[in-house]
Amino acid sequence: DTTLLLLFIAAFFLGSIPFAYLAGRLKGLDIRQHGSGNIGATNAFRVLGSAMGATVLLLDAGKGVVATLWAFSYAGETAAVIAGLAAIMGHTYSPFMRFKGGKGVATAAGVVITLVPEVALICIILFAIVVAISKYVSLGSIVVALALPILIFLFNKPLSYQIFALATALFVIYRHVPNIKRLLAGQENSIRRNYPKF
Ligand code: G3P
Repeated sequence: DTTLLLLFIAAFFLGSIPFAYLAGRLKGLDIRQHGSGNIGATNAFRVLGSAMGATVLLLDAGKGVVATLWAFSYAGETAAVIAGLAAIMGHTYSPFMRFKGGKGVATAAGVVITLVPEVALICIILFAIVVAISKYVSLGSIVVALALPILIFLFNKPLSYQIFALATALFVIYRHVPNIKRLLAGQENSIRRNYPKF
């Protein structure tokens, strides 16, 4: 089906829009040179402040929502998760950023919110609790990544969602390897710390 293939490619390019980078440019800086260097909502919060951070978070999640809805309305569940994965891949390996990008958490959240809102709600609460206690956003992302496939399984969701959840979990954890090293070395960026505002 050519239309479906084009839809997946469109989802990848939608995911590729580097909102954190563009937000940095609006403030006259290259986000890759500041904070963790990551082109994501967490680093946008850290480097650009809460307003920009929240905007980037909504836009990055929105990419996942739109890609998933497109494919779902056209061809159902399996197409929806493939489009969601394409958007997450676009976000993390953006052709506009020489195939660099974020860690996929916000965009994956958009996919999960769209497909399984009840699981998304639990994930958001879990994320908030882990971040509030530990003060590490990355730890929140890692814990939620581990919880996602378990929750999707427990809620008896379709097999395509379970495969999506497992693949996303492994991918998000893989993208957090530098964070895991910093956490173990006690050098991870804490939300407690004050960052310079530009
Ligand atoms: O979603 C990314 C977050 O878990 C970590 O971001 O910038 O601290 O590497 P960062």
